[in-house]
Amino acid sequence: MTWDEVDWASLERLRALFLRSEPVREPYWRNLSDLASYDFTYAQRIAWKWGAALSELQRLGWSPPPGPLLDWGCGSGVASRCVVDAFGPEAFPEVRLHDRSALAMQFASRRARDRFPGLRAEPDPLGQGPCTTLVISHVLNELHRDDLPRLLESVRSAHCVLWLEPGTHACSRGLITLREQLRSEFHLVAPCPHRQACGLQVADRESDWCHFFAKAPTEAFTDGEWVQFGRRAGIDLRSLPYSWLVLDRRPVAEWSPDRARVVGLPQSFKPYTRLDACHSGGPDGAAAVDRLEIAKRADPGLHRRLRESPPPPEIPRPR
Ligand SMILES: C[S@@+](CC[C@H](N)C(=O)[O-])C[C@H]1O[C@@H](n2cnc3c(N)ncnc32)[C@H](O)[C@@H]1O
Repeated sequence: MTWDEVDWASLERLRALFLRSEPVREPYWRNLSDLASYDFTYAQRIAWKWGAALSELQRLGWSPPPGPLLDWGCGSGVASRCVVDAFGPEAFPEVRLHDRSALAMQFASRRARDRFPGLRAEPDPLGQGPCTTLVISHVLNELHRDDLPRLLESVRSAHCVLWLEPGTHACSRGLITLREQLRSEFHLVAPCPHRQACGLQVADRESDWCHFFAKAPTEAFTDGEWVQFGRRAGIDLRSLPYSWLVLDRRPVAEWSPDRARVVGLPQSFKPYTRLDACHSGGPDGAAAVDRLEIAKRADPGLHRRLRESPPPPEIPRPR
């Protein structure tokens, strides 16, 4: 597809749906052109977020066990394509695409086969077959309460789960609730540096949420077509917040309590940087998310790195 082929009327309609205050419950893909235009624009923004999450997994030295991949709520299939791209098609003997929309499953299967010739990629209308890797992306705020048990069934039958959602308060809190339900059954690969109760699940932290920022590629600000898309869609392409959760049945190396995961965006002031740091060394052996102020004079190098975009994923925990 090229920018000249984008169906702007279709993107306008999707934008109105995505911006609605209440969740979108009805199927909204009307034709393949809707999916192609979404895949070329909105989905690309989602791919940038997946890029950040997947490079963090690679930094952690994690990869999925070989076996079939299921993309649940696949839409145009951007998330599974990012995952296959990151770990290589040889890791996935089969990719199954599940969505409540038959058009979406058809589009996503075809796109996956085009992108990875030789890959077995098929629609999966029930989304219930055995899978090794389960991929979920930008689905939570569309799910009807009655659909959640079906999704959780897929989660529980998978060996590992890669789940990425918008970095909003509601989506992050939704993921935290699910994390609490699943943490005794799975090991937590990311973003949590521990398997204990989430440190944001405490009184006084209800207004906070666990989110991260991906860096948009330069073309998002320099390419006139992207700039025009950002304007028309009413989205700031420089801001790519996401929340995520990666679960694995295999044990994973837990972080030392001396290391902390940087959550959200550090706020830089001249003499210090304020940030949220998640770690397993809280009071009484619990995990905690501490609000820290790191003075520039205490560690000028760290102060400088925390001003970068994206900030370092982890820091030594100050005592
Ligand atoms: C915002 S789109 C995201 C698509 C894709 N995962 C992505 O990241 O670009 C949400 C998708 O979830 C699908 N969906 C919503 N509720 C669903 C359900 N109960 N069962 C299966 N798919 C569902 C929608 O049809 C849509 O394709």
